[in-house]
Amino acid sequence: MTGFGNHFATESVEGALPVGRNSPQHVPFGLYAEQLSATAFTAPRAENHRTWLYRLRPTANHPAFRPYAAPTRLRSGPFEDAPPTPNRLRWDPLPLPAEPTDFIDGLVTYCGNGDPSAGAGIGIHLYAANRSMERRAMFNADGELLIVPQQGALRVVTEMGVLPAEPEQIVVIPRGVRFRIELPDGAARGYVCENYGALFRLPDLGPIGSNGLANPRDFEVPVARFEDDDEPFEIVQKFCGTLWTTTLPHSPFDVVAWHGNLAPYRYDLRRFNTMNTVSFDHPDPSIFTVLTSPSDTPGTANCDFVIFPPRWMVAEATFRPPWFHRNVMSEFMGLIHGAYDAKAGGFAPGGASLHNCMSGHGPDRASYDAAVGATLAPHRIENTMAFMFESRFPFRTTRFAQETPLCQLDYDDCWTGFRKAQLPANSAKGPDA
Ligand SMILES: [Fe+2]
Repeated sequence: MTGFGNHFATESVEGALPVGRNSPQHVPFGLYAEQLSATAFTAPRAENHRTWLYRLRPTANHPAFRPYAAPTRLRSGPFEDAPPTPNRLRWDPLPLPAEPTDFIDGLVTYCGNGDPSAGAGIGIHLYAANRSMERRAMFNADGELLIVPQQGALRVVTEMGVLPAEPEQIVVIPRGVRFRIELPDGAARGYVCENYGALFRLPDLGPIGSNGLANPRDFEVPVARFEDDDEPFEIVQKFCGTLWTTTLPHSPFDVVAWHGNLAPYRYDLRRFNTMNTVSFDHPDPSIFTVLTSPSDTPGTANCDFVIFPPRWMVAEATFRPPWFHRNVMSEFMGLIHGAYDAKAGGFAPGGASLHNCMSGHGPDRASYDAAVGATLAPHRIENTMAFMFESRFPFRTTRFAQETPLCQLDYDDCWTGFRKAQLPANSAKGPDA
């Protein structure tokens, strides 16, 4: 099924979905009706997201959760793990694990902002895993999860159905939805944006018009599919920043039918309809926004998910790579494959970089020299897919992110060696007053 935010209806057994009523006195086959809300009941209709699930057993029937005992590098807002740093940071790719590690235990937090209890901010994690989640599921009470595979395919099994995903596709799992991640191709690595704030949505298009960027029809939603077994199944949840666990006597993936506009979805980044200048100047990267989580201030996102896909560069008499900039917004970047046009080296697929609020950054010396010296002709940037999680709130790095040997201690050096500009001799320096 396709479409962004549509109202979907799907049943894996014919006749399982009640018709005309959400919670009839007698649900077909004795299924249990359950509403899952991702927005307040009274949220405006256009922003209201909920789904009705019809399942073999009520979710409410579970034992108490207890603290998750296994060591975890997952951290959560408020990010007080280490003092915040204003420095520009870049990391080498996260190594694949040597020990058997699934998605849950393979999560490692690099940075974040806000607080899930306050409904604002995001957490940014990487994952590196080499085995499927077996007889266990996860759900996140703190926010929705935007998963960006970088290496290795995922098979994301959710209560609403299955979404396979490979690098250059993304999957968003709503808050509260149980899921397990299988690795059909073996080891896998990627990035996760945990969104504590308003749900990701498509950006408004303004003067672009009714088509372009990520088109709603390209968002894919699973169809109902269930597991009927009576074997123990671990459920791990993240709640107010920490992991908790309990065990059910059956699979939690027992939803036979569902309808509503809250569902996991997949989007293929290669379907992005990229806009760019056809005259001059380098447009702001907001032109590449796939999804946005707005904040209370219009145009000032809790998080924008932005990609830098293959595209034609045709700007005339223009410095074509990203220019030097200092922004009020903070930028965390990752690279799925290829190279990024503002860096000649050091930013590898599976790596990451962080440029916080007001930190000066831009092209490195080699990229700058190449762009200034280039003979400008239409040029297609090929074989690349970089992305950015951009936020109005500065990112606070975790102790792991600051102390890991993956952190490149010489990152600042890529902006050294620029020649001072040469003014005409005896140029006036402007009034002193
Ligand atoms: Fe930037």
